[in-house]
Amino acid sequence: MADERIIRYIEATERLRQGDYEVEVPVAPPDEVGQLGQALQALARELDARRAELQKLDLITARINAGLLLDDILDNVYDDFRALIPYNRIGFSLIDETGGTVTARWARSDQPEIHLKRGYSAPLAGSSLQRIIETGEPRIINDLLAYLQAKPESESTRLIVAEGMRSSLTCPLIVNGYPVGFMFFSSVRPGAYSDVHVDVFKRIARQLSIIVDKGYLVSELAARQATIEAKNQELVRLNELKNSFLGMAAHDLRNPLSSIQLIASVLRDKTFPISEDERTALLDDIVQQTHHMLALLDDLLDVSQIEAGKLELRCEALPMPEFVRRIVERHAQLATSKGTTVTLRHAESGTLYADPTRLRQVLDNLISNAVKYSPPGSTVWVDAHQQDGGWRLTVQDQGPGISPADRDKLFTDFARLSARPTGGEKSTGLGLAITRRVVEAHGGIIDVDSTPGQGATFWVWLPAQPPA
Ligand SMILES: Nc1ncnc2c1ncn2[C@@H]1O[C@H](COP(=O)(O)OP(=O)(O)OP(=O)(O)O)[C@@H](O)[C@H]1O
Ligand SMILES: [Mg+2]
Repeated sequence: MADERIIRYIEATERLRQGDYEVEVPVAPPDEVGQLGQALQALARELDARRAELQKLDLITARINAGLLLDDILDNVYDDFRALIPYNRIGFSLIDETGGTVTARWARSDQPEIHLKRGYSAPLAGSSLQRIIETGEPRIINDLLAYLQAKPESESTRLIVAEGMRSSLTCPLIVNGYPVGFMFFSSVRPGAYSDVHVDVFKRIARQLSIIVDKGYLVSELAARQATIEAKNQELVRLNELKNSFLGMAAHDLRNPLSSIQLIASVLRDKTFPISEDERTALLDDIVQQTHHMLALLDDLLDVSQIEAGKLELRCEALPMPEFVRRIVERHAQLATSKGTTVTLRHAESGTLYADPTRLRQVLDNLISNAVKYSPPGSTVWVDAHQQDGGWRLTVQDQGPGISPADRDKLFTDFARLSARPTGGEKSTGLGLAITRRVVEAHGGIIDVDSTPGQGATFWVWLPAQPPA
């Protein structure tokens, strides 16, 4: 009569053949038949583990295919590898097109802090990563502290050790025979990795590499698309601004023109009785109006000229602070009608090499703005001193300051913002845009420090010598 166990083994083999790996067979007593049972049971366990692994890989593949952007893919699969490879952190780096540098593209960790972040890059040549590329074999470091002691110059090891990592498995990603990057698994446990994990990685490496490459391409395309879209939006915005500005400029030119026309017809009409004084006043008015129109046209021409790249600087050595003092004195005089004081506060001596006409234009606009947008009777301070191999010129006022919303638009073309002139002065919104371009043409920087409601300090830094 056949051993009862043999019948059970035959049944189990049939179930295994049909894909049901959760079989239990009797293994005692440990005679020859029992040993056969043990072997069968071990085989069933092994097959079950393999099936679980394959299922996991299927899931990862599905998830990888579902997310197209690389970061989404990696974020999606971060937890999925755990069943296959132990880790507390995964990093992913790409080799650049020339093959010269490796740059971190993505990293995620269970630990609170990531030190080796996206953007970290290092040369490939001569690094330990180069060997991994050359052999195509993953590398295990099971004691990162000891490794760092032996190779204290390894910045990347120092960073992940600082994150708390103690062992690592570095895997090359290869697409069409070309190395594209690396996947770094790290664990807070020393000795976390063995050849089993290398095998697991090798089984998924090819697919992972291809998908990483695809995801990277899509990410790049998406980034380029986003840049183009942002540029388009900027163009649309500029176009709208230009249109509304043209409307404003036309309006600003039309008003003085119609009053000049009116005055001219009054002056021509011999039957209209006017005194000599009245006649002089009317002529003065014409002079003033044409002056304003010319200034506006000059500004418009300036913008289009500068836009066309035709801003030519005629630089010369300007004696400081005399150059600034003369400009400040002129504005001080003009501002008396508004009861505003304009003073040169701190002024250093020295030489600034710049285009005098253009630099005057810069200071004219900053000082006239300070007077124009501050309440009558306030004070405007001008300072000029040397700093960082150049000159820092500041104009401080007691006006409304610059609101955060206005800040971004301040130096762009045609910006008439929330602050309005306090004494009926003209405002076309071109001054600061021109000023910025002039400063930048000198190789300088312009910006403003301001707490809304507490005045503004516009500052310009110019190199002592503009770039050739
Ligand atoms: N010192 C300041 N304080 C508060 N707001 C300011 C100051 N300077 C400029 N602004 C704001 O920035 C806007 C742009 O200034 P900008 O000098 O470019 O043009 P504008 O003074 O209006 O005209 P333009 O200088 O062409 O005659 C102004 O309309 C104003 O709202
Ligand atoms: Mg201005």
